[in-house]
Amino acid sequence: MAALLEMQGITKTFPGVRALDRVSLSVEEGEIHALVGENGAGKSTLMKVLSGVYPHGSYEGTIRFAGQEARFRGIPDSEAAGIVIIHQELALVPLLSIAENVFLGNERARGGVIDWRETNRRTAELLAKVGLREAPTTPVGDLGVGKQQLVEIAKALAKKVRLLILDEPTAALQENDSQALLDLLLDLKRQGVTSIIISHKLNEVRRVADRVTVLRDGAAVATLPREGLSEERIIRDMVGRDMAHRYPERDRRPGAVLMEVEDWRARHPDHPDAIS
Ligand SMILES: Nc1ncnc2c1ncn2[C@@H]1O[C@H](COP(=O)(O)OP(=O)(O)O)[C@@H](O)[C@H]1O
Ligand SMILES: [Mg+2]
Repeated sequence: MAALLEMQGITKTFPGVRALDRVSLSVEEGEIHALVGENGAGKSTLMKVLSGVYPHGSYEGTIRFAGQEARFRGIPDSEAAGIVIIHQELALVPLLSIAENVFLGNERARGGVIDWRETNRRTAELLAKVGLREAPTTPVGDLGVGKQQLVEIAKALAKKVRLLILDEPTAALQENDSQALLDLLLDLKRQGVTSIIISHKLNEVRRVADRVTVLRDGAAVATLPREGLSEERIIRDMVGRDMAHRYPERDRRPGAVLMEVEDWRARHPDHPDAIS
């Protein structure tokens, strides 16, 4: 299969930090490609370079997407090319409805006026596609994280996505929501959507990924094929040593209590009357 995406020699530095050091990544049309690595390995930064969050000129290296060199100046450019990134921190507006969120910045209008009937109809279709049974008029703030994630994906589909990037999509999800999301990813793959998923959960990676690229300390250390993909192998590449030494031996002798919290209560930011 042909490569849909080729990132080559990507180097990105922040003051005092080399977040990416000559990283190359190749993603084939139609595959689910997992990106794994320990915290701080550079996964999110690589995807921000790809999606134009860090514009062309602020990094070294080249990006080819769908046969053309990509020089995105910002997110609108990458989205126009069909690349949609869903960040770790969801970016929906809680007070707006599902439909308003799905078409935010991409409004369905007729004669300069938003066509709500068309917006809600299209949204209902997209919600069916992602398997979310909610009315398009439901405020997003009323939904749990799992459902909000599905709204983000519906929003991506509204933009005719070719490459969907999910940055740790299941980190905040319950087990059944995670499974549903992974099923959806496999379903989208059958419909021709290519995706990159960042995850810490290696069992999930093994379940959905066709290939896995491992980042360590800002460098791509390996791209592993689906065959023979074992968690041991992935972990060895992630941490750069064998499983036997995964937890270094430590001499622990706990001392006196440093801090103690008792009977702590906090107010919910959206429901100040509720005590949780
Ligand atoms: N905006 C930023 N400014 C400074 N340093 C950053 C910034 N974003 C990321 N970094 C640093 O770059 C490295 C890679 O971070 P990141 O891409 O977020 O890793 P990952 O997503 O794999 O956990 C880390 O050392 C992180 O502290
Ligand atoms: Mg990250």
